[in-house]
Amino acid sequence: METEALLHVDKISKAFGGVNAVSEVSFTLKRGEVLGVIGPNGSGKTTLVNLITGFVRPDRGRVYFKGKEITGMPPHKIANLGLTRTFQVMRPYHSLPAFKNLIIPLNAPRVRKTRGGKLGDVDAVAIDILEEIGFERDARVPYKPAGSLPLGYLKRLELGRCIALRPEVIICDEILSGLSMSEITGLLPLLERLQMDGISLVMIEHRLRELFRLADRVIVLSFGQKIADGTPEEVMENQEVKKAYLGREKKR
Ligand SMILES: Nc1ncnc2c1ncn2[C@@H]1O[C@H](COP(=O)(O)OP(=O)(O)OP(=O)(O)O)[C@@H](O)[C@H]1O
Ligand SMILES: [Mg+2]
Repeated sequence: METEALLHVDKISKAFGGVNAVSEVSFTLKRGEVLGVIGPNGSGKTTLVNLITGFVRPDRGRVYFKGKEITGMPPHKIANLGLTRTFQVMRPYHSLPAFKNLIIPLNAPRVRKTRGGKLGDVDAVAIDILEEIGFERDARVPYKPAGSLPLGYLKRLELGRCIALRPEVIICDEILSGLSMSEITGLLPLLERLQMDGISLVMIEHRLRELFRLADRVIVLSFGQKIADGTPEEVMENQEVKKAYLGREKKR
């Protein structure tokens, strides 16, 4: 496996009013790696994703992708470089058929280039991608309005939007949360396959058991700060991590 640093986040910070949502967080994602990001509710995980992918501008700090600084670039440009993300709160085009939700990423310049400039039948490509990730073509699921799909399919559609971009990195913001055990069991092999296809993953998860099956390394956030970075075993043995989780549980 190559060990090139694909994504490097350097002391990134963002405050909302008086709340330090993310404080001086640094980490590196290597090519081929699955990096878990965990932390209690409100610890800054989604804000970190927003900062990396251009949805929120950092107050301080920098983000590098494949050695190039991308801090402050708009989300579509970052996505077009091959760094994409799913949304914790999904926002598909509800009234469009599921497959039409893939048309925008399929028309990104990086994807058009791989088609040799030809547009081809983009709808067919979209439907093929959805079938690959578990949409049953025979049951005509790809043609159903996205808004009518159950959560399991919506999560797959989120991944489908990312896959359509032929990305190098996908950041998954709680892709497993809200799913039934059988839906999770269905989704895990798909995530494993993405990794086998050479896509590096950052996985924000509350489902630690499933995350630790996939993740090579985990970072832990608490009140916006990174408090641990190591293998799943290492971080779960970390006293500060135990305190962060137990402390929050007591408050509830
Ligand atoms: N747009 C915003 N405006 C104001 N405050 C915000 C905004 N986004 C996030 N915050 C605050 O920043 C902190 C971190 O929120 P964030 O959503 O990043 O946490 P999280 O770790 O993703 O939580 P969860 O596990 O619940 O998804 C919280 O205190 C939150 O209320
Ligand atoms: Mg979140």
